[in-house]
Amino acid sequence: MTNSLHGRTILLIISGGIAAYKSLDLIRRLREVGARVRCVLTQAGAEFVTPLSVAALSEEPVFTDLFALSDGQAMAHIRLSRESDLVLVAPATANLIGKMAHGLADDLASAVLLANDKPLMIAPAMNGAMWSHPAVQANVATLRQRGVAVIGPGKGLMACGEEGEGRMVEVAAIVEAVTAHFAVSGPLAGKRVLVTSGPTYEPLDPVRFLGNRSSGKQGHAIAAALALSGAETILVTGPVALPDVSGVRTIHVESAREMLAACEAALPCDIAVCAAAVADWRAADTASGKLKKGTGAPRLDLVENPDILATLAQSCPRRPRLVIGFAAETESVHDNAKSKLQRKGCDWLVANQVGTDKVFGKDDNQVTLLRRNAQDEVTADPWPSQSKTDVARRLTEEVVAFFNHSP
Ligand code: C5P
Repeated sequence: MTNSLHGRTILLIISGGIAAYKSLDLIRRLREVGARVRCVLTQAGAEFVTPLSVAALSEEPVFTDLFALSDGQAMAHIRLSRESDLVLVAPATANLIGKMAHGLADDLASAVLLANDKPLMIAPAMNGAMWSHPAVQANVATLRQRGVAVIGPGKGLMACGEEGEGRMVEVAAIVEAVTAHFAVSGPLAGKRVLVTSGPTYEPLDPVRFLGNRSSGKQGHAIAAALALSGAETILVTGPVALPDVSGVRTIHVESAREMLAACEAALPCDIAVCAAAVADWRAADTASGKLKKGTGAPRLDLVENPDILATLAQSCPRRPRLVIGFAAETESVHDNAKSKLQRKGCDWLVANQVGTDKVFGKDDNQVTLLRRNAQDEVTADPWPSQSKTDVARRLTEEVVAFFNHSP
């Protein structure tokens, strides 16, 4: 699904309302869409759900005590928000809302909230009379004014048996609000991106194929980084041993021709990143039965595969604004990459040196980013050796800068 929380850390503060039982499900749902969830439980919250359940569901230590010095919890009230992307209070009781509005910090949850420097969302939960009380309404208005997002509350029957407004909204609505926050907040929100990754397998017969050593790690990391920046990301991948990237629509293909068809079906898009190691040739004929030995080695006639990068770069009028290719070279990296950039008609090319012991399947990559300007001049920017995740992040930053300069 798009708008995923992959790579995001949510700090969930659970205060003491009966709706706290829903927070256990909330932890699971947030994690299902990729978030890391760390939890702070107030003393009253711990009356409704146990630290053990919260720890088990979040698979993280639970924070409860402002004064704890053990288990790496010292100064937790500062660190917890610094290490998060968003703070979510669910349920938010009238008491905690009041403390937030007035800057009180007499326990870990309220101290974290006072020291917080991250976006804050609250899902109020209380009796209808409490919710409509002018004191609570004034506190909520103060929080809204400070930029706090208030999710709900909803109307309906409450645990106390009364009806009214004050119920914590359903877990799905909270997850939706959180994912929407990240989807609209990324610098590439509204952009549609196509990424190719992995090798292609070109069948020789029902059991054999021509392939290559691409692991897909670099292409998948790029798809993840672009999605994290808010882009709607479609990943077309050849056979790899990697899990699908959360938040990215992944289309699995085998051959180059299948990959091209999936890419063309994904158009129009704003950006195309062709990181796949597409086989240049395929067998002219695929045997319908397994090729048998005993009659000498079979003759293999090869024909050229379509060039997906060149096709996308020349796909007027549906050409993506920014077309980025990769060049895996074993020698003369720079010269070969430069002529490839011009020949294929892409805008940027990420070039690297490959060999049997380099790049393929590894976690690090040393690349040079070549760019072609409107005058057809090519500039080269060598990047230091770094993890493929960092290469993906930096490439995403360059994409963001490109669209900032020429929106
Ligand atoms: O020509 P070469 O295979 O070295 O070019 C590499 C670049 O072209 C990569 O971006 C790769 O994804 C892309 N490519 C392609 N379709 C092919 C061959 C390469 O998209 N058939």
